[in-house]
Amino acid sequence: MVCESSNKSYLKSQHLKIIGQNTLRGKVRISGAKNSALVLLAASLLTDEKITLDNVPLLTDIEKMGNILKNLGVKLHNKDHQLIIDSKNISVQELPYELVNGLRASFFCIGALLTRFGEASIPLPGGCNIGERPINEHINGLRALGAEVIIDRDVVKAKLVEKKSKLFGANIRLNCPSVGATETLIMAASLAEGRTVIKNAAREPEIQDLCQMLNKMGAKIYDSGKEKIIIDGVPKLHGCTHKVIPDRIEAGTFLIAAAATSSSITVSPIIPNHLEAVLNKLEESGSKIIIKGNSISIKSNKIKAVDIKTAPFPGFPTDLQAPFMALMSIAKGRSKITETIFENRMTHVNFLNQMGASITVDNNTANITGVNKLKGMNLVGSDLRSSAALIIVALTSRNTSYVYGLHHLDRGYESFETKLVKLGARVKREYIVDSRDQIKNFATGNSDIDLNVA
Ligand code: EPZ
Repeated sequence: MVCESSNKSYLKSQHLKIIGQNTLRGKVRISGAKNSALVLLAASLLTDEKITLDNVPLLTDIEKMGNILKNLGVKLHNKDHQLIIDSKNISVQELPYELVNGLRASFFCIGALLTRFGEASIPLPGGCNIGERPINEHINGLRALGAEVIIDRDVVKAKLVEKKSKLFGANIRLNCPSVGATETLIMAASLAEGRTVIKNAAREPEIQDLCQMLNKMGAKIYDSGKEKIIIDGVPKLHGCTHKVIPDRIEAGTFLIAAAATSSSITVSPIIPNHLEAVLNKLEESGSKIIIKGNSISIKSNKIKAVDIKTAPFPGFPTDLQAPFMALMSIAKGRSKITETIFENRMTHVNFLNQMGASITVDNNTANITGVNKLKGMNLVGSDLRSSAALIIVALTSRNTSYVYGLHHLDRGYESFETKLVKLGARVKREYIVDSRDQIKNFATGNSDIDLNVA
């Protein structure tokens, strides 16, 4: 199942060539949710029996998480989009930095390893392009459950306190509804002694998916999806088969791309109430939305400006802020986009303005005056979602664009360009055969692409 990113050179030697102004039409199949599959992989460490995951997306982040589990001795068998995980014989050892670095979700293994084996050592996940990404909520919660947690030379080391054989249930109130901290603590509490109550918990669908799988494994978790989650610890968890929920962020990205190109498409499968805030904003800005079972159709023409403010679920998701800004950059009128989750998630503004957009940023608020058309150019994504945003604007622009930074895109969008081509877009992934020459050209300035941004 794991895609062979190790064989694909991401030396910036590949790009998407996009010829803009095609409308899209037809139906796009939505893959399993990256942010659900990653935490379900971590949760498989909680049992010594087999876990079968279906609808696992083919993404480099999943491949990385698979390598991390293999490093612990987990046996992984993949067949297309199915992954069979066997954590029977694993040795708890410090996860190597080079494996953990760049995949924040690897840190979520700490709760599962600690509660099953009594100890865990995981390098600090560190910050990334979108923000500092602290883990204080994870650490404070693990301490409340009775763990001793220290940070020793950038490695987080957690263990049960002397003479204790388990974690103990506790009342925990998160200062902020952190998705990852909620997931870490649910996993840690699932095998603890007694009841844990997590208040101000995150309510994202991916957390609900995790709780559904854990309850299939024999856990006793109540009220996932609400801001107060109750977990009654059990002595052991058994294996199960679980299907990953559809990716609401991928679905939202395609719906926004349709709105930007005045297109009519259908996305499926999807759970519509996972995208309520986004659908409301798409309708408010002039698109027609039709929901039928597990599919959503959009019909778009003229788009008018609307304001958005990102928020924890069920609010407007931060992961669709950049794609939606791409839409607002060509909408009629003025709009305001406020990012409240991450402190540095506006890096796409620079490229949008170079393409002719009119955006000013004040702290974490972007003020946008829509323009008619943007002009294609060489673009470099700086994170997973800004890469998708740049592709969306390239699809609408007058001429040809080249989008670099595909190693970001491939982290979270399965076969993105293939799905776009099926909808009628003129997109092609091109590989620079001799990247040495290409990079030499960049070095001597004989090229118009600044790779340093990637
Ligand atoms: C998850 O990241 C997702 N990643 C992110 O998706 C998503 O953007 C984010 O949740 C918010 O929805 C995965 O699930 C793998 P957080 P996570 O902890 O858990 C602060 C994508 O593009 N915070 O909810 O790391 C933090 O600084 C990725 O798919 C603390 O202060 O996000 C941030 O401001 C990007 N202390 C806010 O909470 C902590 O201990 C939200 O972070 C933890 C977080």
